[in-house]
Amino acid sequence: MIHLNTAGAGLMPESVATAMIECVRREVEHGAYETELHYDKILQQEVYERIAALVNAPVEDIAFFDSATRAWCAVVCRLDLKAGEKVWVTPYEYAGNLISLLALRDRTGCVIETIPTTGTGDLDLEWIAANISDDVAFVSLTYIPSGCGIVNPVAEIGRILAPYRAFYAVDACQAIGQVNVDVAEIGCHLLSGAGRKFLRGPRGTGFAYVAPELRATLITDTHDLHVARVVSPTEYVVEDTSARGLELAERTTAAVLGFNAALIHFDSVDAFAQHEVFQALRSTLAELPVELIEPGTRHSGIVSFRHASIPAEQIRDELGARGINGWKIRGDHTPIFMAERGIDTAVRLSVHYYTSLDDVAAAGRALREILGA
Ligand SMILES: Cc1ncc(COP(=O)(O)O)c(C=O)c1O
Repeated sequence: MIHLNTAGAGLMPESVATAMIECVRREVEHGAYETELHYDKILQQEVYERIAALVNAPVEDIAFFDSATRAWCAVVCRLDLKAGEKVWVTPYEYAGNLISLLALRDRTGCVIETIPTTGTGDLDLEWIAANISDDVAFVSLTYIPSGCGIVNPVAEIGRILAPYRAFYAVDACQAIGQVNVDVAEIGCHLLSGAGRKFLRGPRGTGFAYVAPELRATLITDTHDLHVARVVSPTEYVVEDTSARGLELAERTTAAVLGFNAALIHFDSVDAFAQHEVFQALRSTLAELPVELIEPGTRHSGIVSFRHASIPAEQIRDELGARGINGWKIRGDHTPIFMAERGIDTAVRLSVHYYTSLDDVAAAGRALREILGA
């Protein structure tokens, strides 16, 4: 099997599976709470330290979630914006994030504007520099979108935004594990990510970096008992003011341990060394009778394409029948960009450091057969 769907979910290393299986086995034999106690140091400390080191953030600004969307929503759904304040998004916004921003607009009366792109599809940095003002309260950027592989210049944009009051949020779901992600360099206040993609963690894992100045402005709807305590029938106190206050206490112990094992594994590999393989994938696809969906000038290990008459689903299934995992993406998951170009579906292939040049050559042969090229 050749896995060209890390943008969906990466292949878990054996050590991740082992950590999870051992945890569940221990839960069966010793009890789930007792198992949690056994792994206390990893669950309460180590995994946070590893995420913090990965994104170069203070550990108290890291929270663990069961998905990237939950991480995003834990912050965005609690933003306290005023009517008329501006929220900037880009054409590469992920649909799940856009939904919470649209709901925020409906709740607060804030105004959503889309940052334009230049003719190449790159975000228009000159427009950002010319239009940024203190009317902009929140800027949302997707580092690498799920449907096409553009790498957006998050640090350059962070530098433009820095003198202004806007909170800056970066969705690093497809970037984390694929390119270096450093919140200090980016200058963002929120960064969300998933464990299951280029970090090769288990499903049901995600995280957020949330800067203290952003946390301080969020509407408090609830605090769970890992951070707060009821001190009298009418009062409670929040004892832990770290980003963990955005989490709920209950979680799947095996998932946290699996994610921790993925982070340990990630430290032992050269994960960003897929450039040659990606170039090979791009040039292989460029020779086929397909339309590459590849805006912008900086690209990642994700590339999407469509054929004029063969549906994406059929191409995915025929690749699958040849032992190659690709994925059918939906235009409405990256709705602004894809709608502008009339793209309903496409095939997405994504490579990682475990993809070889031979894998790419095999995918090229399979696609030539499928497309009759
Ligand atoms: C760019 C981007 N952001 C956010 C998400 C949402 O991640 P999750 O499914 O973990 O909520 C995805 C999922 O594919 C994504 O590609």
